[in-house]
Amino acid sequence: MAHNLLKGKKGIIFGALNDMSIAWKVAERSYEEGAEFLLTNTPVSMRLGNIDDLAKKCNTEVVACDATNNGDLEKLVLLAKEKYGKIDFILHSIGMSPNVRKKLVYDKLNYDYYHKTLDISALSFHKVTAMLKKHDAMNEWGSIVALSYVAAQRTLYGYNDMADAKALLESIARSFGYIYGREKKVRVNTISQSPTLTTAGSGVKGIDGLMDFTERMSPLGNATADECADYCITMFSDLTRKVTMQNLFHDGGFSSMGMSLKAMTQYGKSLDMDIEE
Ligand SMILES: NC(=O)c1ccc[n+]([C@@H]2O[C@H](COP(=O)([O-])OP(=O)(O)OC[C@H]3O[C@@H](n4cnc5c(N)ncnc54)[C@H](O)[C@@H]3O)[C@@H](O)[C@H]2O)c1
Repeated sequence: MAHNLLKGKKGIIFGALNDMSIAWKVAERSYEEGAEFLLTNTPVSMRLGNIDDLAKKCNTEVVACDATNNGDLEKLVLLAKEKYGKIDFILHSIGMSPNVRKKLVYDKLNYDYYHKTLDISALSFHKVTAMLKKHDAMNEWGSIVALSYVAAQRTLYGYNDMADAKALLESIARSFGYIYGREKKVRVNTISQSPTLTTAGSGVKGIDGLMDFTERMSPLGNATADECADYCITMFSDLTRKVTMQNLFHDGGFSSMGMSLKAMTQYGKSLDMDIEE
């Protein structure tokens, strides 16, 4: 149900690849809530996915932009300013690890790939935010949100160098949140989402087992992509104007759990289980 929470607000949404993407759901919900926004992704992802269908649905356009490339970002921000004047919300929904893709484990990383992981999944958040600030492109009380994962705080088997990227991402939200808040009253936060079956999510080693585990461990169960979109809407809205520099867990309670009855019951059934290194 829509409440016009984003009526009159303008934004940019990074990272919708296909209809499983969290950014796709956020775009659909933002449109329902009355926002206008640009969609953006890399040229390759624009070809591989079907972001044009989303653009049609949301009555908008797609702008090609590699979020690691300052030239692309500058064009995007200037285009958004020309179209909308100042902007009210940004979703950074971007993640990729070449090490994960190539199945290189954490103690045998390729360092060129490691740089790429950090650049795409974390530094791009700094670059986007810095470009917005450089062009004074955000309205006061505007909201910049990036998506994170609990592997920033806790080690999870198989999450690999993406854990380091998420720790950096969350730190950038705090560091930039201070400066942007102080100077322009712009909010910067990360939302730490449950494991979710998307294209990026499917790249995580053992995602099915992981999702079963987090479902059993979370008193409210895993949060879905649609529920994540709802949370993003509240963060873009005026209802959360004093929330900044936070990493906000959206995970059904998982991050505060140690052991649940449901998980213990399952674990007890398989004490002799063989764990792959
Ligand atoms: N799926 C999960 O389990 C989960 C859980 C917590 C957090 N997240 C985070 O949510 C975000 C969105 O991922 P998703 O699960 O919707 O998967 P997804 O694969 O649909 O989205 C990832 C997006 O990143 C984009 N991208 C990659 N390199 C880019 C670049 N250089 N410039 C611009 N865009 C680029 C891809 O094109 C894609 O659209 C990511 O930050 C991911 O780490 C996902």
